[in-house]
Amino acid sequence: MKLMTLLALASCTVPLAQAADPARGGELVIEAQCENCHSDRYGGGDGTQIYLRSDRKVNTPAQLATQVSVCNSQLDTGWFPEDEAHVVAYLNKRYYKFR
Ligand code: HEC
Repeated sequence: MKLMTLLALASCTVPLAQAADPARGGELVIEAQCENCHSDRYGGGDGTQIYLRSDRKVNTPAQLATQVSVCNSQLDTGWFPEDEAHVVAYLNKRYYKFR
């Protein structure tokens, strides 16, 4: 019992970047329907193509974090800051692959 309490406390102090969970990020992107808007803006089809377009805007991890924040602010997701970090981790793992 005491050990579990200690573990719970320890997990609260893990820095955000390390705690970011791509799997949770993927769920959040679907729940928030991010790709519906991207699809509408770019003539329909697969909304994920925006992440792979040849003239894409996002070329660094910092730009990715900023763009997710800007886009999220256009929705009413009620996400916590760590939710944005999960989404950044998901998009990076799946599409951008920054190191
Ligand atoms: C209101 C419509 C809208 C919604 C909703 C939206 N986006 Fe976007 N998103 C855009 C537009 C428009 C662009 C292109 C911006 C540009 O080219 O200047 C974009 C671009 C992006 C890019 C950069 C693509 C590139 O060029 O590399 C990312 C990443 C992104 N959105 C993530 C998200 C995420 C995550 C969500 C859900 C939380 C989301 N967006 C919801 C409209 C939206």
